[in-house]
Amino acid sequence: PLPTLTRSARGLVLEGVALADVAAAHGTPTYVYSLAALRAAFNAYRDALAGRRVLVCYAVKANSNLGVLSAFARLGAGFDIVSGGELARVLAAGGEASRVVFSGVGKSVAEMRQALAAGIRCFNVESAAELDRLSAVASGMGKVAPIALRVNPDVDPKTHPYISTGLRSNKFGVAFDEAFALYRRAATLPGLHVAGIGCHIGSQLLDGAPVVEAAEKVLGLVDRLAAEGIVLEHIDLGGGLGIRYRDETPPTVRDYLAPLLALFDGRREELLFEPGRSLVGNAGLLLTRVEYLKPGVEKNFAVVDAAMNDLARPALYDAWHDAVAVAPRPGTAAARYEVVGPICESGDFLAHDRELALAEDDLVALLSAGAYGMTMSSNYNTRPRAAEVIVDGERVHLVRERERVEQLFAGERPLA
Ligand code: LLP
Repeated sequence: PLPTLTRSARGLVLEGVALADVAAAHGTPTYVYSLAALRAAFNAYRDALAGRRVLVCYAVKANSNLGVLSAFARLGAGFDIVSGGELARVLAAGGEASRVVFSGVGKSVAEMRQALAAGIRCFNVESAAELDRLSAVASGMGKVAPIALRVNPDVDPKTHPYISTGLRSNKFGVAFDEAFALYRRAATLPGLHVAGIGCHIGSQLLDGAPVVEAAEKVLGLVDRLAAEGIVLEHIDLGGGLGIRYRDETPPTVRDYLAPLLALFDGRREELLFEPGRSLVGNAGLLLTRVEYLKPGVEKNFAVVDAAMNDLARPALYDAWHDAVAVAPRPGTAAARYEVVGPICESGDFLAHDRELALAEDDLVALLSAGAYGMTMSSNYNTRPRAAEVIVDGERVHLVRERERVEQLFAGERPLA
């Protein structure tokens, strides 16, 4: 899954850096990203979209490290944010507000003010109440807020129920049948400029057909609106393209986009996308060290120093991440291991039933961890969060220091 990861005599090497050297310099657990892989993933979109009027807005929630954001900003990406915090990160990383779209069902007044003051590209509005609030906030600041309605096309993306977002039963977006009336209302509100339309039907999509179906529905609505005099400038088709974790066969970026682009041939609207996982997922891994090997009655456990607080996806979604030994051990017999963390929960596992030849202190890499890894981490069990590094050729950039325990309770007070 990670194109720039190779085996050598020094064990696994990312670009030009041995993972053992990363662990020696920065400790474990550490998230390790490959700059070449980040660039290659972004350029796959850029190349497939060449010649079109498009903006690829990287979904910051997938990996919001400033180093990652700055890499995408330099490549000309826009950004899809879901909070004022993510906006602050984008700006701190050198991203341009004019390339930011703001999604999410619960934007606060403070977040609206922050985004209006920064001058973002568009608010993806998800309810009638949000339209009213945004218009009032913008008017109060003497500004006009550019908006797109996030419509819910009610197509089944056939992915994990927790990450499917375009069904009628989901909390996201406005119902397709209500969108027309809401656009007419939005057009009358003083603080709003109706700029576009958006949809996002789900994540880790392995089949592009549902997105094409959604896009067709959206285009039908766009044309009906135009007939009413509401002419939209952009159409945002969200994110969602899946990646290979194990044996999945997602379409390539080009194959995923081709039928969508065909739908837009001859149209004048600018196209926006909000990919997250497909830009970062397979550009990163979580590097961890074996603390103990614990042969069990029914199962063998490899207790590593990373845990569900570092990588929540296995515990949360039963997600599969490949676990590979960083340096092979020819003299050691392989055994089947449960790769687990030190947290006091039976759900604290990173990988089930994996055949590995391991000894205490060995390094293990959990692959495909670049998306929704660090961003979903927590401090459960008062565990400081991992360090993050970006490898660029033979260089290693520390882009986030390992958290220190004092930082974890710096804002707390014992009772006086
Ligand atoms: N746009 C919107 C409005 C979204 O809600 C999302 C993801 C994206 C774009 C980016 O989607 P992507 O290209 O990454 O599929 N924590 C889960 C994934 C949650 C996705 C939420 N929304 C996981 O670890 O699988």
